[in-house]
Amino acid sequence: MSKLIGPFTQLLTMKGLNLKGSLKDEQLEILSDAGIVSDSEGKIMKIGSFGELSKEAAQNSWTIDRIEKRMVAFPGLVDCHTHLCWGGSRARDYAMRIAGKSYIEIAKQGGGILDTVRSTRAASNEILERSMLDRCAKLLKNGVTTVEVKSGYGLNKDEELRHLKVIQSAGRKTKLDVVSTCLSAHMKPHDFNGTQSEYLKHCAGNILPEVKAQNLSKRVDIFVEESAFSIEEARVYLEAAKKLGFELTLHVDQFTAGSSLLAVELGAKSADHLEASTQKEIEALAKSNTVAVALPGASLGLGCSFTPARKLLDQGATLAIASDWNPGSAPMGDLLTQAAIFGTYQKLSTAETFAALTFRAAKALGLEKTIGSIEEKKQCDLTAFPADDYRQVLYHQGQLRPAQVWKKGEQLHD
Ligand code: NIG
Ligand code: FE
Repeated sequence: MSKLIGPFTQLLTMKGLNLKGSLKDEQLEILSDAGIVSDSEGKIMKIGSFGELSKEAAQNSWTIDRIEKRMVAFPGLVDCHTHLCWGGSRARDYAMRIAGKSYIEIAKQGGGILDTVRSTRAASNEILERSMLDRCAKLLKNGVTTVEVKSGYGLNKDEELRHLKVIQSAGRKTKLDVVSTCLSAHMKPHDFNGTQSEYLKHCAGNILPEVKAQNLSKRVDIFVEESAFSIEEARVYLEAAKKLGFELTLHVDQFTAGSSLLAVELGAKSADHLEASTQKEIEALAKSNTVAVALPGASLGLGCSFTPARKLLDQGATLAIASDWNPGSAPMGDLLTQAAIFGTYQKLSTAETFAALTFRAAKALGLEKTIGSIEEKKQCDLTAFPADDYRQVLYHQGQLRPAQVWKKGEQLHD
């Protein structure tokens, strides 16, 4: 059965905007007193004046989700980089860090990613799934309707496959769309007997074929950094992953510049972090079709500089913003707050920030044809804020929460 949703005081469609480069608020399509018709499959059938669409609704006996208050709606947010499937806590790391120790120093002292590997391996499927579903529920409340979730706290064949299965099964239970990514190349675990290259060879030869055979993920990620894997090691691994048919996304330029050039060279879907990127990397990203994903939650969690988003946009890159929600570097998990704060430092227009959270983030996941903007045939994923002007949303720096969220035309909370 079709359904009419509205009226929205303002509807920002995010339609027809350039995928690359800077954006001005004047470019935004803003419809007043607008309605959206969702078909029985949750796809957008029509967009237009609520008054006109109400007449059609009456003629066709469509149901109506009538909005009584003044609301601004835009596409459901897309969080294109998270690590939501973890056990334990890294509060101890956080305390050490704010007392002055660096992320790399803490990792070298047995904290960091490998600490979460221990606690995630020790957690049952039920616990992992429950906590991931709780995190998904929080995301939905905050307007996120699609989330990417990485493995990477298993770091051996059995555990990586187990975590990817938990991600898949939680994905079936939450209303959010969950896109899984295999990050078995997050770091070499303590209990692997061999070099970094040998560990990556093990991932490519034993873990990835099984991930593919069991259809657990279509995407492969790697952490390219001094404390994890070198550019040369990563290249060999990613070429093997590509041969197996995986799409690529990379953790690059977080503390050391240069690795994003590998993401560009290999035609990765996205290059994520980029806090340390210099002019050379910015230029290469700008010329490429690889989406530059900024993770302000990691800058806030680690107390380090933000990704040079302004420069990336001015030079023509596609910028997305994601939460990187994880227990170590980015424990906050509040995408809108992070994006709002990031925008004040990087001087991003409202249009640029909204684009980074919607259609440009969808592009990073290869989902640009189905989500990320409000247009016919796309999924009816919406988030609506209690405001009468879209500029209120970032102005409140994350404190103005969505009043209602729709996923595939289904209203999820009010
Ligand atoms: O994106 N940089 C590498 N990986 C994660 C951190 C994961 C963790 O600290 O547990 C990140 O920041
Ligand atoms: Fe990450």
